[in-house]
Amino acid sequence: MTVLELIRALAHDAPVGVVVTDAAVELPGPTIIYANPAFALLVGRDLDDIVGRSPRFMQGKETRRAALDTFRRALVSGERFHGYLTNYRGDGTKYRAEIDCRPLRNAEGRIEHFVSFEREVLRRIGRPARNAGGRYDPATASNDLLTGALCNLALFEHV
Ligand SMILES: Cc1cc2nc3c(=O)[nH]c(=O)nc-3n(C[C@H](O)[C@H](O)[C@H](O)COP(=O)(O)O)c2cc1C
Repeated sequence: MTVLELIRALAHDAPVGVVVTDAAVELPGPTIIYANPAFALLVGRDLDDIVGRSPRFMQGKETRRAALDTFRRALVSGERFHGYLTNYRGDGTKYRAEIDCRPLRNAEGRIEHFVSFEREVLRRIGRPARNAGGRYDPATASNDLLTGALCNLALFEHV
């Protein structure tokens, strides 16, 4: 079983968005090679309209260049990116995405893919939380096993 097949099997019914790209960081890459139904729901597009494109299609006027530069640097240096971006759905509405993106390396250590876990977050009213989630809360709380496991792996800051 390849890593991609494993991700497909695990992510299909997952309530968090999961998207896998190839390893090409430079334009026109990275190219999306897999997205799960929760990702299609998050970005408000059909899966057919997602696979084969670059994740840049979700960006717009209020997507901060500084955040994208940080994202890009992480991809180039093969490090994890965990951050928040303003993105846009197919119908043009904007949302705040929590993104946890990591490289997938082969046995020789070469990056073959990137995988990203994504969900919508809402700006917290009042004081930032003490935990690392800070100013954001997940838009929908889920207490399923996978999200719990992802939190235990510190993929997301809280359920
Ligand atoms: C797996 C993966 C998922 C990504 N998901 C998003 C996303 O949801 N929203 C977004 O704006 N950019 C996303 N990106 C980042 C863009 O593809 C791109 O790398 C970013 O804009 C920085 O590169 P650039 O400076 O060449 O634009 C993702 C990248 C990867 C590898």
